[in-house]
Amino acid sequence: MKRILVTGAVGQIGSELTMELRHRYGNDSVVAGVNRTQPTGELKESGPFETVDCTDIKQVEHAVKKYSIDCMYHLAAILSVVAEAKPMPAWNVNMNGLRNVLEVAREYTCAVFTPSSIGVFGPGTPLDNTPQDTVQRPNTMYGVTKMSGELLCDYYHKRFGIDTRGLRYPGIISCVTLPGGGTTDYAVEMFYKAIEKKAYTCTLKAGTFLDMMYMPDAIKSAIEVMEADPARLKHRNAFNVTAMSFDPEFLAAEIKKHIPDFMLNYEVDAVKQAIADSWPNNMDDSCAREEWDWSPDYNLSAMVKDMLEKLGEKLGK
Ligand code: SER
Repeated sequence: MKRILVTGAVGQIGSELTMELRHRYGNDSVVAGVNRTQPTGELKESGPFETVDCTDIKQVEHAVKKYSIDCMYHLAAILSVVAEAKPMPAWNVNMNGLRNVLEVAREYTCAVFTPSSIGVFGPGTPLDNTPQDTVQRPNTMYGVTKMSGELLCDYYHKRFGIDTRGLRYPGIISCVTLPGGGTTDYAVEMFYKAIEKKAYTCTLKAGTFLDMMYMPDAIKSAIEVMEADPARLKHRNAFNVTAMSFDPEFLAAEIKKHIPDFMLNYEVDAVKQAIADSWPNNMDDSCAREEWDWSPDYNLSAMVKDMLEKLGEKLGK
């Protein structure tokens, strides 16, 4: 039986992944690792939670020992825009935090899932149909930490036999918990503003294509890659995965099908634009499809329809 610790359990992905893991493996088998923000509602009531600041190895070890953990979903991280503003804290959380998790995993024999990102790519990477194995010279602190994290996870697998696996997530769109400090956050913000104000001012310019994915697919992919038959895996850290690629104009046009008077304006943020410009327009995720049967359920139109319904309900509109 799996006993799982999720770090970053109150974050955008963690808050929904923890609930799905509890649903699958049993409430008591999935520990929500929280740091500064306390869990609330269903996340708090449905199962155990524990303070786990990943930069403190003793806290990681305490939780793993206390609950006999054999699998960690290590989601705690600082995203791209915040990492550019605070490079050293980003290094500390993203690198030292991961090293602590891997060291505890080595000592207590845990499998480790680590989300990587489209941010591992940069200048020199082919930006269209970006291959699984290609040039990776990221020029953001977020990218540097995620790229180094991929290498460190592969190293722990090869050197110590730790079952490390990961995904290069694109922008994740969701309506339960807001993302915090990422370049792709605009896509989530556009939905909130479309419903609340019928207008949105976008910080990335028209024509900025990026890979994206709806949260149900993000959760499904994290669980499936950890459940995959290891004999089939040629790659581990980390698989390209995507579900759609769009720019602000395409997303707005799809939202307009449901909210015809929605208006999109632009006020470009130079830092975010530079980050987005260094990332792929669309990735090739055929290795994930071949090695563990990855296949997303939501394309752009299905995602937009579901987001507007769910978020409309949440915002009482
Ligand atoms: N969504 C992340 C960000 O924008 C990328 O992985 O930072």
